[in-house]
Amino acid sequence: MFTKLDLTHDLPEQGPTELLHQFGKSIDGNWLGISYYKVDGEIEERLKSYIPEKYRSFFQVNYMIINSSYIPPHIDDKISTTINFYVNTADAVTRFFDKKQVNQTSSEKLPEQSNGRIYKSEDLNLVSEFIAKPKEVYLLDVQKLHSVSCSKQENRTSYCLQSHIGISYEKCLEIFNAGLAQW
Ligand SMILES: [Fe+2]
Repeated sequence: MFTKLDLTHDLPEQGPTELLHQFGKSIDGNWLGISYYKVDGEIEERLKSYIPEKYRSFFQVNYMIINSSYIPPHIDDKISTTINFYVNTADAVTRFFDKKQVNQTSSEKLPEQSNGRIYKSEDLNLVSEFIAKPKEVYLLDVQKLHSVSCSKQENRTSYCLQSHIGISYEKCLEIFNAGLAQW
């Protein structure tokens, strides 16, 4: 479901740039959720250089800002795996779940989602969890149900190297390890 990679990074904080997509809700006039911003130039090149050249076209780079203290259990939209290069983590907990009953779990689709869905935590069993620290790098299977909870009102930020649907979590780990071996 996740793997802590044997790697740390020193990428700088990035402010919001061009907004690519976002998932969330407006509560009392405040928009809360996950936003993905464009990353280009030297940082995009540095991140993509972790991937062997022949696989690079299957990956995209962006910068994630989470401004909500709770992201409910969900599967990500259109991506199978993300490699998160955490910048600000605010001790947030990422949790992975299984469905208690495979065929009787209700889900909600946000207007901006395609294959992505949101689930209720009472329908799920907790399987594993982690607390990332700044500069750490994790590979996450985001087609597995996961949530993010944070007790602080701070933005959480990360550079994300995301693989398209079709590149499995196992394959992504293999590709990334092959890339690291080249360094
Ligand atoms: Fe997610």
